[in-house]
Amino acid sequence: IEDEQDLPRPPPPDFQANNRPKSGSKTPLTPNDVHYGKTLGEGSFSRVVLGTHRRTGQQYAVKIIDKNYLIRMKKKETALAEKNALVQLGAGHPGIVRLYLSYQDAYSLYFVLDYAPNGELQTLLTRLGSLCLPCVRHYTAQIIDAIDYVHQKHVIHRDLKPENLLLDEDFRLKLTDFGTSKVLDPSGEQRKSTFVGTPQYMCPELLESSTTGPSSDLWALGCIIFRMITGRFAFNGLSDYLTMQKIKQMDYSFPEGVDGHAKDLIQKLLVPNPSERLGAGTSGSNNDIQALRSHPFLVSIKWDTLWTDEVPARE
Ligand code: ADE
Repeated sequence: IEDEQDLPRPPPPDFQANNRPKSGSKTPLTPNDVHYGKTLGEGSFSRVVLGTHRRTGQQYAVKIIDKNYLIRMKKKETALAEKNALVQLGAGHPGIVRLYLSYQDAYSLYFVLDYAPNGELQTLLTRLGSLCLPCVRHYTAQIIDAIDYVHQKHVIHRDLKPENLLLDEDFRLKLTDFGTSKVLDPSGEQRKSTFVGTPQYMCPELLESSTTGPSSDLWALGCIIFRMITGRFAFNGLSDYLTMQKIKQMDYSFPEGVDGHAKDLIQKLLVPNPSERLGAGTSGSNNDIQALRSHPFLVSIKWDTLWTDEVPARE
């Protein structure tokens, strides 16, 4: 690209900081407090670099989004969606990447986020193949707890996948990348959507009727549990088209030896009708999120200490 910016670089003095940190923090973080270091990851129109607070040494992940690219690719909504969702979610949950500060200069948008030093769940899965049962159970519970919070805040993530689940210093999960998320107006559940996600984790309603709702995230959860436990995709064809065909036809099967309760849970999430997925009912109904939390696969989970208990060894 001809005018590719030479990032990272410190913001010029004319930056506009437009998102004050949440109440409770002592000194407000400002763009010039942060030293911009090595690149942690690169997307098609963004780069994530390691940010270090010059005085305290506190580390952050700074997502730097190229404005030119956003405008050229008509992706302004993506950046806005991400910021709106992160602002809406606030500092309220340990399983969600927190936005500390956002600002912009003439070239880029900057999001200062929680840094997750152990990378993506995806990388761990690639390295280990599958995860052991206690670990799958713990991560399943952490994902449920995080998406319950997200949904309570009227946000749908819509692109849940192991690449968007980061691992913090203690290998606890942190949900990230709200670029395709949607902040719901309190009225509507299912919404028309132009969004196209990652094929392997896409829900049938998106393929059939271009709608998504909170229970689209529950479908993705089913695909993620399948992936963690078997090391394989639930739905995967030789092309994206064939993957989507498999999803529409519910063409998936379990390998030998999958834990019975885990299998049952996956089967109750990978249900074509969004309202019939386990946990999809409204609060207080017999299919609400509590029904999902109480599934036999998760009986040994201590929900009160889910984010302080040690994560079982990854093996
Ligand atoms: N890559 C993308 N976002 C990240 C984050 N928050 N922490 C570490 N690496 C990342």
